[in-house]
Amino acid sequence: MISEKMEEALNGQVNAELYSAYLYLSMESYFKSLNLNGFAGWMRVQTQEEVIHAMKIYDFINERGGRVILKAIEGPPTEWDSPLAVFEAVYVHEQKVTGLINDLVDLAIKEKDHATNTFLQWFVNEQVEEESSADEVVQQLKMMENAPGGMFMLDRELGQRVFTPPAAEGG
Ligand code: FEO
Repeated sequence: MISEKMEEALNGQVNAELYSAYLYLSMESYFKSLNLNGFAGWMRVQTQEEVIHAMKIYDFINERGGRVILKAIEGPPTEWDSPLAVFEAVYVHEQKVTGLINDLVDLAIKEKDHATNTFLQWFVNEQVEEESSADEVVQQLKMMENAPGGMFMLDRELGQRVFTPPAAEGG
Protein backbone atom coordinates (compact mmCIF):
# COMPACT_ATOMS: atom_id res chain seq x y z
CA MET A 1 0.00 0.00 0.00
CA ILE A 2 1.22 3.43 -0.89
CA SER A 3 1.10 6.43 1.46
CA GLU A 4 -1.27 9.28 0.68
CA LYS A 5 1.62 11.69 0.31
CA MET A 6 3.47 9.43 -2.13
CA GLU A 7 0.26 8.79 -4.07
CA GLU A 8 -0.37 12.51 -4.45
CA ALA A 9 3.20 13.18 -5.54
CA LEU A 10 3.11 10.38 -8.14
CA ASN A 11 -0.22 11.70 -9.41
CA GLY A 12 1.52 15.04 -9.87
CA GLN A 13 4.18 13.30 -11.95
CA VAL A 14 1.54 11.66 -14.18
CA ASN A 15 0.35 15.19 -14.91
CA ALA A 16 3.92 16.43 -15.51
CA GLU A 17 4.64 13.60 -17.97
CA LEU A 18 1.42 14.24 -19.85
CA TYR A 19 2.30 17.93 -19.96
CA SER A 20 5.67 16.93 -21.44
CA ALA A 21 3.82 14.94 -24.13
CA TYR A 22 1.65 17.99 -24.83
CA LEU A 23 4.70 20.27 -25.00
CA TYR A 24 6.51 18.02 -27.51
CA LEU A 25 3.37 17.63 -29.60
CA SER A 26 3.18 21.42 -29.77
CA MET A 27 6.83 21.49 -30.84
CA GLU A 28 6.05 18.90 -33.52
CA SER A 29 3.33 21.18 -34.84
CA TYR A 30 5.79 24.11 -34.92
CA PHE A 31 8.31 22.06 -36.94
CA LYS A 32 5.56 20.91 -39.31
CA SER A 33 4.74 24.55 -39.98
CA LEU A 34 8.39 25.04 -41.05
CA ASN A 35 8.34 21.88 -43.21
CA LEU A 36 11.07 20.41 -41.03
CA ASN A 37 9.51 16.96 -41.04
CA GLY A 38 12.52 15.16 -39.54
CA PHE A 39 12.52 17.50 -36.54
CA ALA A 40 8.75 16.99 -36.33
CA GLY A 41 9.20 13.20 -36.39
CA TRP A 42 11.74 13.41 -33.56
CA MET A 43 9.17 15.31 -31.51
CA ARG A 44 6.50 12.70 -32.29
CA VAL A 45 8.73 9.96 -30.86
CA GLN A 46 9.45 12.17 -27.84
CA THR A 47 5.69 12.65 -27.33
CA GLN A 48 5.08 8.90 -27.48
CA GLU A 49 7.82 8.30 -24.93
CA GLU A 50 6.28 10.82 -22.54
CA VAL A 51 2.91 9.08 -22.76
CA ILE A 52 4.67 5.83 -21.88
CA HIS A 53 6.33 7.56 -18.89
CA ALA A 54 2.92 8.75 -17.68
CA MET A 55 1.40 5.30 -18.13
CA LYS A 56 4.23 3.58 -16.26
CA ILE A 57 3.46 5.77 -13.22
CA TYR A 58 -0.29 5.39 -13.74
CA ASP A 59 0.05 1.59 -13.66
CA PHE A 60 2.39 1.68 -10.68
CA ILE A 61 -0.03 3.76 -8.59
CA ASN A 62 -2.76 1.21 -9.30
CA GLU A 63 -0.48 -1.72 -8.63
CA ARG A 64 0.31 -0.29 -5.20
CA GLY A 65 -3.36 0.05 -4.31
CA GLY A 66 -3.48 3.80 -4.95
CA ARG A 67 -5.90 5.84 -7.03
CA VAL A 68 -4.99 7.87 -10.09
CA ILE A 69 -6.63 11.29 -10.18
CA LEU A 70 -6.20 13.08 -13.49
CA LYS A 71 -5.94 16.84 -13.34
CA ALA A 72 -6.07 19.48 -16.10
CA ILE A 73 -3.03 19.61 -18.37
CA GLU A 74 -1.66 23.10 -18.83
CA GLY A 75 -1.54 24.47 -22.38
CA PRO A 76 2.02 24.42 -23.81
CA PRO A 77 3.72 27.29 -25.68
CA THR A 78 2.98 27.31 -29.41
CA GLU A 79 5.68 29.55 -30.90
CA TRP A 80 9.46 29.61 -30.73
CA ASP A 81 12.01 31.89 -32.40
CA SER A 82 14.00 29.12 -34.09
CA PRO A 83 14.71 25.38 -34.06
CA LEU A 84 17.59 26.16 -31.68
CA ALA A 85 15.20 27.94 -29.30
CA VAL A 86 12.97 24.84 -29.36
CA PHE A 87 15.77 22.46 -28.41
CA GLU A 88 17.08 24.84 -25.75
CA ALA A 89 13.56 24.76 -24.30
CA VAL A 90 13.57 20.93 -24.44
CA TYR A 91 16.86 20.86 -22.55
CA VAL A 92 15.61 23.26 -19.86
CA HIS A 93 12.36 21.30 -19.58
CA GLU A 94 14.12 17.95 -19.16
CA GLN A 95 16.36 19.41 -16.44
CA LYS A 96 13.18 20.51 -14.67
CA VAL A 97 11.73 16.98 -14.99
CA THR A 98 14.95 15.54 -13.57
CA GLY A 99 14.43 17.79 -10.55
CA LEU A 100 10.86 16.49 -10.15
CA ILE A 101 12.05 12.87 -10.32
CA ASN A 102 14.77 13.59 -7.75
CA ASP A 103 12.15 15.14 -5.44
CA LEU A 104 10.04 11.97 -5.77
CA VAL A 105 13.05 9.82 -4.89
CA ASP A 106 13.73 12.04 -1.86
CA LEU A 107 10.13 11.60 -0.73
CA ALA A 108 10.24 7.81 -1.26
CA ILE A 109 13.37 7.65 0.90
CA LYS A 110 11.77 9.85 3.56
CA GLU A 111 8.68 7.65 3.59
CA LYS A 112 10.86 4.50 3.68
CA ASP A 113 8.98 3.41 0.54
CA HIS A 114 11.59 1.08 -0.99
CA ALA A 115 9.30 -0.21 -3.74
CA THR A 116 8.63 3.30 -5.05
CA ASN A 117 12.29 4.21 -4.75
CA THR A 118 13.26 1.15 -6.83
CA PHE A 119 10.52 1.92 -9.37
CA LEU A 120 11.76 5.50 -9.72
CA GLN A 121 15.34 4.43 -10.53
CA TRP A 122 14.22 3.66 -14.11
CA PHE A 123 13.23 7.33 -14.40
CA VAL A 124 16.50 8.51 -12.84
CA ASN A 125 18.39 6.67 -15.59
CA GLU A 126 15.98 7.75 -18.30
CA GLN A 127 16.52 11.41 -17.39
CA VAL A 128 20.25 11.11 -18.06
CA GLU A 129 19.41 10.09 -21.63
CA GLU A 130 16.62 12.69 -21.96
CA GLU A 131 18.94 15.55 -21.01
CA SER A 132 21.83 14.34 -23.11
CA SER A 133 19.83 13.77 -26.31
CA ALA A 134 18.34 17.29 -26.09
CA ASP A 135 21.72 18.86 -25.40
CA GLU A 136 23.27 16.96 -28.32
CA VAL A 137 20.83 18.58 -30.76
CA VAL A 138 21.39 22.01 -29.14
CA GLN A 139 25.14 21.64 -29.73
CA GLN A 140 24.65 20.48 -33.34
CA LEU A 141 22.35 23.43 -34.08
CA LYS A 142 24.82 25.87 -32.54
CA MET A 143 27.69 24.47 -34.60
CA MET A 144 25.89 24.84 -37.91
CA GLU A 145 24.52 28.33 -37.09
CA ASN A 146 21.42 27.69 -39.19
CA ALA A 147 23.35 27.00 -42.42
CA PRO A 148 20.65 25.68 -44.81
CA GLY A 149 22.68 22.62 -45.85
CA GLY A 150 23.30 21.68 -42.25
CA MET A 151 19.63 22.04 -41.37
CA PHE A 152 18.72 19.73 -44.24
CA MET A 153 21.19 17.09 -43.03
CA LEU A 154 20.11 17.36 -39.40
CA ASP A 155 16.44 17.18 -40.38
CA ARG A 156 17.18 13.93 -42.20
CA GLU A 157 19.16 12.55 -39.28
CA LEU A 158 16.53 13.41 -36.64
CA GLY A 159 13.82 11.94 -38.86
CA GLN A 160 15.44 8.52 -38.45
CA ARG A 161 14.55 8.32 -34.77
CA VAL A 162 12.02 5.56 -34.17
CA PHE A 163 9.72 4.88 -31.25
CA THR A 164 10.64 1.72 -29.34
CA PRO A 165 7.66 0.27 -27.48
CA PRO A 166 8.44 -0.49 -23.80
CA ALA A 167 8.15 -4.32 -24.19
CA ALA A 168 10.96 -4.27 -26.77
CA GLU A 169 13.25 -2.18 -24.58
CA GLY A 170 12.54 -4.41 -21.58
CA GLY A 171 11.72 -1.46 -19.30
FE1 FEO B 1 9.36 11.91 -19.13
FE2 FEO B 1 11.17 13.60 -20.93
O1 FEO B 1 10.89 12.81 -19.29
